[in-house]
Formats: sequence, structure tokens, C-alpha cells
Amino acid sequence: MSAPARLVVLISGNGSNLQAILDACRSGALPAKVAAVISNKSDAYGLERARLAGLPALALPKRKELDRLDYDCMLAEQVAAFQPDWIVLAGWLRLLSLEFLGRFPGRVVNIHPALPGAFPGLEAIERAFAAWQRGVIDHSGVMIHLVPDEGVDSGPVLAQERIDFLPGDTLESFAQRMHTLEHRLYVETLHHLVTQVQSCER
Ligand code: GRF
Repeated sequence: MSAPARLVVLISGNGSNLQAILDACRSGALPAKVAAVISNKSDAYGLERARLAGLPALALPKRKELDRLDYDCMLAEQVAAFQPDWIVLAGWLRLLSLEFLGRFPGRVVNIHPALPGAFPGLEAIERAFAAWQRGVIDHSGVMIHLVPDEGVDSGPVLAQERIDFLPGDTLESFAQRMHTLEHRLYVETLHHLVTQVQSCER
């Protein structure tokens, strides 16, 4: 049997998607190993989650004297040192340049809390909720996609699932359903990715 796929997870904050991935790896539901967690925010709670799981947890904030490409180059070096099969963006809130992406072609995966083409960028859940309140939309969803270039929350779609707004929804109730879906869909999609690649290697 081949070794479990190695994931490096990039985060910027709470890390609930990271936690879902860690739990799935530990239970065996996801045949993968998180090799490291890296955050561009030193105070990201996700770093604590990684430490609690006994994993390398690196804070790599962008220092002012580094320009964007130098930072991405340094980040790529740090990520590559963990020899990842997949780089998993889980609430990573920095746009990655080709300086980084070019080092890992076809191996960077992102989650966006909206459907393809909808609400790219920050606060997609809040913006979708506001659009529903204005009567513009009646559903939203979650997508998982590859990150081939510097497009914001765009790229080949690996999975997507719709969520309908419900009568009486509040931002909190909607966000809760979205996060529950995110956690399941990310684990399922990563499972598909890592087992597909493993079976091709046999
Ligand atoms: C998620 O909604 C993710 O889709 C978005 O940022 C949020 C991160 O949440 N990109 P968490 O840090 O995984 O809890």
C-alpha cells in the first residue's frame, strides 16, 4: 500500500476546516497525513489546533520589507520542505502569486463558501445572506476548486453543493449550515483526490 498523501494546510484564522481535516485523518476517514500547518497570521487559532494535534505549526506573517513575490517565494520554500502532495487552502486569506503556484502546479486546492462565480473574495457568506435578504437569490453553496492562477476563488471546480436559504434563517443559522457543509465537502473532495492519485500510481 502506498504511503498516505501528505497535505500542507495553509490557514489565516479559526481553522475549523483544518480541524475537520485533522479529525478525518486521525479517524482514518481520510487516508492522508497533515505534514504541517502554516498561517500568515501569528494569532490564528488554527495554529493552536495544529499544535494540539502534535503537528508542525508555523506562523509566517508577511514582513513589511518583503515584497509580495519574495514572500511567496519564501512561503513556497517552507511549504516544499514538508514535501506535500497537496497544498490545502483552508481559510487562507492571501492571494497567491504565480511565484508560489508555479512551484506546485495542479496541487493547490481551495474552498470557497459560495457557488462557482458567486461572491468571490472575502465575506462571501455575509454577502450571500445580504443578497437573500434583498430577494436577489434563494440559494448559495460551497465549492472546492484547484488554484491554477491568481484568479480570486476561481479555477477548475472539483466539487460543489447547493444550500437553500430557509424561512427564518439568520446569518448565524445560515453560516452554521454552510460551515457544516464545508467541513464535509472538503474532506470528501480531498478523499477523492488522494485516493484517485494513489490508484493511478499503482
Ligand atoms: C471558510 O468559510 C472558508 O470557506 C473561507 O474562510 C472560512 C475559514 O473558516 N475561505 P475556518 O478558518 O476554516 O474556520
